[in-house]
Amino acid sequence: MMQTFEHISKIKGELNLPGDKSISHRAVMFSCLAEGTSQIENLSDSEDVKSTISCFKQLGCNIFSGPDKIIVEGKGYKKLEKPAAELDTGNSGTTARLISGILSAQNFASVITGDESLSKRPMLRIVEPLKQMGANIEASRDGTLPIKIFPSGSLHHIKYKLPVPSAQVKSAILLAGLHLNEKTEVIEEIPSRNHTEKLLNLEVEKLNGESIIRVSRANYPVAAKYFVPSDISTAAFFIVLALLTENSELKINNVSLNETRSGIIKILKSMGADISITGIKQSNNEPFGDVIVKSSNLQNVEIPEDVIPNIIDEIPILSLAGLFAEGNFRINNCKELRYKESDRIKALCENYKRLGIEVNEFEDGFELIGRPQLKRTVFESYGDHRIAMTFAVASLLLEEGGAVENFECVKISNPGFIEQLQRIAK
Ligand code: S3P
Repeated sequence: MMQTFEHISKIKGELNLPGDKSISHRAVMFSCLAEGTSQIENLSDSEDVKSTISCFKQLGCNIFSGPDKIIVEGKGYKKLEKPAAELDTGNSGTTARLISGILSAQNFASVITGDESLSKRPMLRIVEPLKQMGANIEASRDGTLPIKIFPSGSLHHIKYKLPVPSAQVKSAILLAGLHLNEKTEVIEEIPSRNHTEKLLNLEVEKLNGESIIRVSRANYPVAAKYFVPSDISTAAFFIVLALLTENSELKINNVSLNETRSGIIKILKSMGADISITGIKQSNNEPFGDVIVKSSNLQNVEIPEDVIPNIIDEIPILSLAGLFAEGNFRINNCKELRYKESDRIKALCENYKRLGIEVNEFEDGFELIGRPQLKRTVFESYGDHRIAMTFAVASLLLEEGGAVENFECVKISNPGFIEQLQRIAK
């Protein structure tokens, strides 16, 4: 479906956005692992989290919707049930990779599949460390889905230094380690999102600039009440839209401010963005607060390597802020973007070329030179929700508006995007 957008002159108002996708996946998974009834408020309504819910239903968990929360009846330690069919994780890398860690520790066989895009993404990054733990797990010959897992008599703890800063890899190992009496250790040089550590209350030791994360059965989750703060990755599209639209002011309530995720706010502020934060609170160890954004003139800044994992999902929309900022936008050290829902470096570069600017693509990043033409432009989403929303925002900024092909993929993280936009576009 092609979605068209007209130029908007002003953003005004307040938004309450759905819960953070990464925290939502984990809240569902930990509620399902725990014995007894858990409640989750403000769960993400994304297709990705629906994939997690549907997999855990197949694993014997009862999950149902209450008026403003979901209720999960968890199974307890190693009590998940053998699924009757393959577990389809859809487009969700987090579901596929984290569930692999959990299933490696169960006493039944399972097969994990995904859609066309997810079936191209690298899985050896989790299969290899899980094998080191003694898991009986195989990816396809290309190192992709389907993943087949067989019961393993003898899972054991490991000490594993992450070769890529990836929260999905880290979490897959930690979730297998959750089933062992001995402590599994994961060592991370550059911090990646730490929701697994926070929600499971894991011990994290900082040593010589690295973090050592320890997990064992002692950390196995118990039934709990969760409140999921709103998704900062979803908020980022509206934050950048408000910054780049004249005479605008936007308040987004209860946004996740986890320190491993809020790099986007720090970078935008260093670019000159007028962003303030009020009413900071905390739930399940996760901080959140209200974000107030006003139109600002931005300047490009250098983006340091160690912040990349923190802003990995926001690089598409950050680059759009950079396009409209003074100076040229350039980012490197983000080759990981090539392994997301699309090859995001390519998808961004191809779309930016349509704006008539000079685009330099590197193996690990890209550079945008010149001012965009403001004529009506049609963009391509590459079936990737974050590319779709980035160029929706770009279209709203063009004098003649624009359009995004294959826009329906926004439902992967935010099915309510258009409705939220209508609420604040004046
Ligand atoms: C996620 C981790 C990140 C991120 C993804 C969600 C998570 O992926 O890009 O959208 O919830 O753990 P990597 O860990 O592969 O970098």
